Amino acid sequence: MSNIRSAHQNPTPVTVVGLGPMGLALAGTLRDHGHHTTVWNRTAERAASLRARGARLATGVAEAVSASPLTITCLKDYETAHRVLGPAAGALPGRAVVNLNSGTPEEARAAAHWAAERGAAYLDGAIMVPPPLVGQPDAVFLYSGPRAVFDEHREAFATLGDPRYLGPDPGLAVLYNAALLDLMYATVNGLLHATALARSAELPATEFVELVRTWFMPTVIDAAFAEQAVNLGPGHYSGDVGTMEMNRTALDHITRTCLEQGVDAAAPRFMTELAERAIAAGHGEDNYLALFEVFRKAAPAA
Ligand SMILES: NC(=O)c1ccc[n+]([C@@H]2O[C@H](COP(=O)([O-])OP(=O)(O)OC[C@H]3O[C@@H](n4cnc5c(N)ncnc54)[C@H](OP(=O)(O)O)[C@@H]3O)[C@@H](O)[C@H]2O)c1
Repeated sequence: MSNIRSAHQNPTPVTVVGLGPMGLALAGTLRDHGHHTTVWNRTAERAASLRARGARLATGVAEAVSASPLTITCLKDYETAHRVLGPAAGALPGRAVVNLNSGTPEEARAAAHWAAERGAAYLDGAIMVPPPLVGQPDAVFLYSGPRAVFDEHREAFATLGDPRYLGPDPGLAVLYNAALLDLMYATVNGLLHATALARSAELPATEFVELVRTWFMPTVIDAAFAEQAVNLGPGHYSGDVGTMEMNRTALDHITRTCLEQGVDAAAPRFMTELAERAIAAGHGEDNYLALFEVFRKAAPAA
């Protein structure tokens, strides 16, 4: 049986605050599955396609939170979430807030405390897939915080993918997120760097990536990544997925999570520096695969 809830089951109204690539995917999926969906974003124009699909754009964040028993926030980071939700404090008592931006465990615990002081039920979460995969039954979302809040809104979460509850400590979801992203960036960076090396012989990237995919690490690099290989070299790094800026922020969260947890941070710090080099080279709005352009040209000797 599918875990996607169908429209005729009277789904919970949901508010989505934050309409970057991920917030747009969340709100669009909820709306397409029959949830009465209210949205708010600093840049209101980003809501245009959602409004055409039937979502309602609130004029302010307090109005947006008041419209639903459940508000999902998906902003750049916790600092932004605090700044954006601050003016909605009066609407929070008795409502649930589920925060899905990345960050560190301490930031998640501080957000839970902030919400409790304002009378809101709070769950923290992390999204383990890129925006185009939101809504797929195997799209893993991690949640942590009070079990009762998770259970109450489980059906809305199942609309977005495969919800996994980790435990009552609100910091757990972002801790697991940082650990899994640490592995993902190391894996993807390894593949991009190896491809840059192989492609220095001017052979197509597709050939090398296919060899890697079918022989070297079939359980780590999936078919979707291999499809992207055609863009390595011609330099097509656009698309409705996360930007290099977003990924730099995520890498900074991994670095700070390591420091919070007393774990060596040298590897994520180095990966953050690589993303910063890509941004300095003009790839801030491109997707993460633009890091290939950093790898394929040796930095000038100091
Ligand atoms: N994209 C992915 O592949 C992916 C995958 C998993 C998890 N995530 C997580 O999902 C979260 C959102 O990611 P994203 O890709 O949608 O893009 P993002 O660039 O991290 O966040 C964009 C959102 O933050 C808002 N924002 C940024 N600065 C703001 C400020 N000073 N005041 C008010 N709003 C501000 C933007 O509003 P404006 O539109 O007005 O700029 C937009 O709503 C992040 O924590 C990210 O780590 C993303």
